[in-house]
Amino acid sequence: MMNVVLVGCGAMSRQWLDAARQIDGLAIVGLVDLDAERAKARAHEYDLTGIVIGTSLDAVLDQTGPDAVFDVVVPAARREVALSAFAHNCHLLTEKPLADSPENARAIVEAARQAGRIHAVVQNRRYVANVRRIRRFLDSGAIGAATSIHADFFVAPHFGGFREEMAHVLLLDMAIHTFDAARYMAGGEPASVYCQEWEPANSWYRQGSSASAVFDLGDGKVFTYAGSWCADGFRTSWEGSWRIVAERGSLIWDGHDLLTAEVVATGRDGLFAKTQPIEVPPLDPADRVGGHLGIIRDFMHAIETGTEPETRGTDNIKSLAMVFSAIESAETGRRVAISQETR
Ligand SMILES: NC(=O)c1ccc[n+]([C@@H]2O[C@H](COP(=O)([O-])OP(=O)(O)OC[C@H]3O[C@@H](n4cnc5c(N)ncnc54)[C@H](O)[C@@H]3O)[C@@H](O)[C@H]2O)c1
Repeated sequence: MMNVVLVGCGAMSRQWLDAARQIDGLAIVGLVDLDAERAKARAHEYDLTGIVIGTSLDAVLDQTGPDAVFDVVVPAARREVALSAFAHNCHLLTEKPLADSPENARAIVEAARQAGRIHAVVQNRRYVANVRRIRRFLDSGAIGAATSIHADFFVAPHFGGFREEMAHVLLLDMAIHTFDAARYMAGGEPASVYCQEWEPANSWYRQGSSASAVFDLGDGKVFTYAGSWCADGFRTSWEGSWRIVAERGSLIWDGHDLLTAEVVATGRDGLFAKTQPIEVPPLDPADRVGGHLGIIRDFMHAIETGTEPETRGTDNIKSLAMVFSAIESAETGRRVAISQETR
């Protein structure tokens, strides 16, 4: 049995607790939130009787001595939570983003290394069937290597809460999913970025609800991102909508179920090379999916087998470096090299 304390009983904690109760061999032994009433409400909602509830993670860890901590707090509290978990010799699975600054990201990854504990991030948009299919299809070489990766993200949620007050809200709170998916699907090592942020007149956020970024992914690959969190109308999926251009064809994914590809055929049609549809194969049984549930399972598997999970902090920090470099570019108005230290 793996005993776990979950910290941060806000909106997202439901996804974690929904997943946790589907996993045999996992027991939630404590719930922590600065607001004790929230923690109590979750315990009641999920029928978690007899567990320890508190407002201090240190105190609840002292009392319960669990194997792992599930961190679902706001990004600003992540470092404090991570250092507390590792100081108590716990493994740590954390919500995205891994940290709220490059310094905090490095400090957390280093603390995990020193403690010798597994540290992974819920970068759950990797655990989506079509993301796995695209990666496998590109790896197969059916349309050659990806050269130009384009993602659009236009969603206009009224969350309320911390997002409407934070700086760089789209880049720091959401774009990590899209950046990580690009890095995963198309491969490559992010080398530099140019990014502009702006606040449209129709925005209800304090800062950074809209952004456009151009990344150099090395080897001649370029990734462009256009996003807004206040674009009413023609909403894209949470995954974004994608066009990936490769050496011998292209694929389009609407972020939902529509995933199509065309490959160059022989001959010309006037100005244009002939193309023909090519099937993107279905999900391979070896492809891991399932959002939070899939990631929690992988995290537990890594602990049980002494292996490293896919979304380990030491790799996820490379996607986070894309975020922080984009923010630096937006702040300085200059192209920014993506740090060798983190990539
Ligand atoms: N993976 C995803 O798809 C996804 C989606 C939405 C949010 N998130 C992430 O989940 C995290 C939480 O988001 P949310 O929407 O649940 O926020 P929220 O504000 O609803 O909940 C956060 C909770 O953490 C508590 N908290 C803050 N600091 C704490 C501390 N030091 N100790 C104990 N409790 C503390 C707050 O009291 C609050 O109850 C964020 O990092 C967010 O980016 C991920």
